[in-house]
Amino acid sequence: MNRLVIAVDGPAGAGKSTISKAIAKRLNIEYIDTGAMYRAVTLKLLRSNVDFDDEASIKDILSKIDINLSEGKVYLDGEDVSEEIRMPYISSRVSEVAAMPLVREKLVEIQRKMASTKSVIMDGRDIGTNVLRDEANLKVYLTASVRERGNRRYKELKEKGLEVTLEDICREIENRDKYDMSREINPLCKAEDAVLVDTTGKSIEQVVQEIIRLVGNIGGKS
Ligand code: DC
Repeated sequence: MNRLVIAVDGPAGAGKSTISKAIAKRLNIEYIDTGAMYRAVTLKLLRSNVDFDDEASIKDILSKIDINLSEGKVYLDGEDVSEEIRMPYISSRVSEVAAMPLVREKLVEIQRKMASTKSVIMDGRDIGTNVLRDEANLKVYLTASVRERGNRRYKELKEKGLEVTLEDICREIENRDKYDMSREINPLCKAEDAVLVDTTGKSIEQVVQEIIRLVGNIGGKS
């Protein structure tokens, strides 16, 4: 059977994970959340109290780290950290960690392996431009206005009972975009052959339908 390999990139809060998860379910393929992997590494480094400039220690930690994605959950060294990695104290440090060459090298290798034998939809920042640049048979770049993205994150965090303000969330999103788009290695940008999908003002279902239509236009990867 032909393999379906879908790459979804875009800035924070554009709806990548919600949309990708829904598509994975509809098409019965695997969803790989690469942002969750960078978040899990951030949690590990913060717990280890390591200095972010200390490459030798970071290299050592990365050589022993065990990150697993299974049935929508994220496991760090066997522990379910799915909730913890969404906390604001992780969000505010994750871009720094994602800019570290050692970290990217390690995670990109794991991500390529995960996508090498099965049909997947993988979301992140450098999937269409780097991780699955040659493998993907559909690339989507999802975006939305900062205000709309801020509102979505705000609602999510409020529902979890966190005390946050919309202004702080929008600022954090803008900072993260800036950092992710300007880092040296594999910065966030739209792949030339990616389809731009703006989700501002659209429902989840509308966006899912739009992408499923795009999937209908491609052949599988053998
Ligand atoms: O999608 P997210 O907010 O969970 O991603 C967390 C951070 O990880 C984000 O600030 C950028 C980084 N990231 C990355 O650099 N490359 C990826 N493929 C995925 C995420």
